[in-house]
Amino acid sequence: MSNEATLLKDETVDAEYLADPAWIRIRDLIYQVSGIYQAENKFYLLVSRAVRRMKVVGARSPREYLEFLTARPNRESEMRNLLNEITIGETCLFRSLPQIDALRKVVIPSLAEAKKKMAYTKLRFWSAGCSTGEEPYTLAMILLEETQGALKGWTFEVVATDLNDRSVAKAQEGVYNDYAVRNVPPEFMKKYFTKSGSEYRVADCVRPHVSFSRLNMLDDSKMLFMRGLDVIFCCNVLIYFDGKSKTRTIQHFYNGLLPNGYFFLGHSESLFGINDKFRLVHFPGATSYWKATETFVKAGTP
Ligand SMILES: C[S@@+](CC[C@H](N)C(=O)[O-])C[C@H]1O[C@@H](n2cnc3c(N)ncnc32)[C@H](O)[C@@H]1O
Repeated sequence: MSNEATLLKDETVDAEYLADPAWIRIRDLIYQVSGIYQAENKFYLLVSRAVRRMKVVGARSPREYLEFLTARPNRESEMRNLLNEITIGETCLFRSLPQIDALRKVVIPSLAEAKKKMAYTKLRFWSAGCSTGEEPYTLAMILLEETQGALKGWTFEVVATDLNDRSVAKAQEGVYNDYAVRNVPPEFMKKYFTKSGSEYRVADCVRPHVSFSRLNMLDDSKMLFMRGLDVIFCCNVLIYFDGKSKTRTIQHFYNGLLPNGYFFLGHSESLFGINDKFRLVHFPGATSYWKATETFVKAGTP
């Protein structure tokens, strides 16, 4: 039976095709490179997306495509292309209002108070797994508000990274549709976007504060450079990882945060059983993880 024949019209795949052992090798390869683990019940998703790449490169079977990923000269770029297909970038601006409230009411003021004592007046945030940029732009808008108000005279930067090249390119454009801006409060809409036709462009005053780049969170050599951060957002990314890759990534986040820094996950995620160095902090409708200062750790104060 030809490959085309085994694929249904809507790119779903039949059981016989799914059972090809080469898919397991491809699944394991994706896991090794990116930490993204495809459980058995979601396997068909990986296959239907990989099939798109097979069509582009002209691979006639999963086994031949495996060769494209492992033995051909451009195997690294094909793996990148495959990762671009399989990552899920669902996001929006102002995605979690409780997290934003926690930032404005507690996290930013407490960081500012602690840093001011050491004569530092700069904040550094990281949006890890930023998808098409909605999260880091939201953070930059919040920080702009604060630095025009209570934190007058302070500077800040938002570092934004993602594995998916296409998402990073779209993030750099900073142009969104109605659906992406649906949660943006009207006062932010007015101040931080310009509307052109049906599109909303992030204002020029926001853009210089956010820097985008491709970063694979499983790449230890690159993660080692992510240091000196006050706040890290890694929301709705680790849900695709298994325990081992989560533990490894979280340790990098812990090392990257300055003492007193905060780490945010998506609202259905937790560090339970993954890392016990952070202190869990509860806010109305949101939680965060706090990296205790040395004094707190020594005193054992909760
Ligand atoms: C669902 S989006 C989350 C976007 C945003 N953080 C939010 O919560 O709205 C998940 C993002 O994680 C990225 N991602 C998955 N694995 C990654 C890895 N190993 N390194 C970096 N980014 C990764 C995907 O490319 C995708 O853009």
